[in-house]
Amino acid sequence: ALVTSTEMFKKAYEGGYAVGAFNVNNMEIIQGIVDAAEQEQAPLILQVSAGARKYANPVYLRKLVEAAIEVTGLDICLHLDHGLDFDICKSCVDTGFTSVMIDGSMHPFEENIALTKQIVEYAHDHGVVVEAELGKLAGIEDAVVVSDPDATFTDPNEAAEFVQRTGCDSLAITIGTSHGAFKFKDEPRLDFERLYTISDLLPGYPLVLHGASSVPKEFVDLCNQYGGRIPGAQGVPEDMLRKAAKSGVCKINIDTDLRLAMTASIRKVFVENPEYFDPRQYLGPGRMAIKAMVAHKIKNVLDCSNKR
Ligand code: G3H
Ligand code: 13P
Ligand code: NA
Ligand code: ZN
Repeated sequence: ALVTSTEMFKKAYEGGYAVGAFNVNNMEIIQGIVDAAEQEQAPLILQVSAGARKYANPVYLRKLVEAAIEVTGLDICLHLDHGLDFDICKSCVDTGFTSVMIDGSMHPFEENIALTKQIVEYAHDHGVVVEAELGKLAGIEDAVVVSDPDATFTDPNEAAEFVQRTGCDSLAITIGTSHGAFKFKDEPRLDFERLYTISDLLPGYPLVLHGASSVPKEFVDLCNQYGGRIPGAQGVPEDMLRKAAKSGVCKINIDTDLRLAMTASIRKVFVENPEYFDPRQYLGPGRMAIKAMVAHKIKNVLDCSNKR
């Protein structure tokens, strides 16, 4: 069924693992992810960004997710990723999403609280859960080496106050991860000290890690080998994510690694088979690459196989 993340997070917290939240933009991406979750009998969050809504039309995405549930019988949480205002969150609540993120992290503390409270009130009235964000997501370079981590990373005391005053159901925190394929210029580093402090102040409470792709070297190399050009790409090492998943982090967001897997496999098909022009000949392998990537995450990073 289409479910909220409430039960998933409760079990993840207690079990010391994390649920994967994967970004979806089309049918093949959804099928690849869902096939992996079904194979691994894993809990699953599919998330739709504003960009995905614009690209695919939210109705198509929702119907595809409904189809996935009908075909597999899995429990899936359908989540809005990075909602920036009340209207987009309301629109998702009104059209069958079971979870929305209000990302007020760019606003001052009090404004973030006011905005988040407004969405929490509307969403909870409709049985929908809310993820909020506190702290500015940036690379370790900008945040720690160059400037002051306290300026951008989530302040633990503020996090506790924020959750208490807004009633949000989960909180995205910033400890050094960032979106995209270029997360660190030098050694990858996350502020685990800060994560544990936040978690200690919010016992039992589910935290969320955005920007958590690992940007596996083999896929970057594969892209580059078959005509791509993405030099210097670097992500969060898997051992750090495994460590985070054991803590209060219950949701780990992954988009970039799906993009890399799909693109690498399609580039390879094109180079090796210049005679192909049927989209199924490359979208099929693209879908398989997504499935393999997600199965790998479920087994080796999130540790949520057989936890559905
Ligand atoms: O938050 C970033 C996600 O990777 C979604 O990216 O806004 O390009 O769909 P997007
Ligand atoms: P990545 O770019 O690291 O995959 O992060 C995705 C994300 O946080 C979506 O909200
Ligand atoms: Na966890
Ligand atoms: Zn994000």
